[in-house]
Amino acid sequence: MLIFVLLLLVIPFGLGAILGAPYVPILHRDSERILKLSGLKPGQTLVDLGSGDGRLMRAAAAQGIRCIGYEINPYLVWISRLVCWRYRKLVTVHTADLWSIKLPPADVIYIFILERYMERLEQKFTTELTHPTTVISYIFRLPSKTPIHQTHNTYTYEFGSDAHTGLK
Ligand SMILES: C[S@@+](CC[C@H](N)C(=O)[O-])C[C@H]1O[C@@H](n2cnc3c(N)ncnc32)[C@H](O)[C@@H]1O
Repeated sequence: MLIFVLLLLVIPFGLGAILGAPYVPILHRDSERILKLSGLKPGQTLVDLGSGDGRLMRAAAAQGIRCIGYEINPYLVWISRLVCWRYRKLVTVHTADLWSIKLPPADVIYIFILERYMERLEQKFTTELTHPTTVISYIFRLPSKTPIHQTHNTYTYEFGSDAHTGLK
């Protein structure tokens, strides 16, 4: 019985670690910084691929920003729905593998996954992002694309067009 309960916990967290990154949430102070950097305005849309406990989406929704999260771990999906409950009209969280979804239209896509997946991710962005979209990667950079802006732990890119930048 104990093993069964442990497996119920280990499998969802293990899947995340194997298919993208383990659950390591962004620092609160960095989430505020990233939102500022994104230039997102109320009514615009943020997508968090591997949205964890929903803390970035909560901070964004508090500013009137629409948020869509994709998270493979159902426990984290429910935690993030609770965390964002106050902003439920603005926040949608899907239980999904980010590699299986078609990226929805967004003003900004935020990502925090392991370095070894960045090449695959860059290919996905290049193929699917046909509309101007800002991509902000936390900690790890995309291997080929040149960032339009970077700090010590964020890399900002433009996909879909050169014309658009929401950067402050
Ligand atoms: C490093 S954490 C980042 C969480 C959140 N984005 C943040 O910055 O606070 C990575 C998250 O991605 C999720 N994840 C890993 N692989 C995934 C995949 N293939 N599809 C969806 N979510 C995934 C993990 O479960 C984990 O919650």
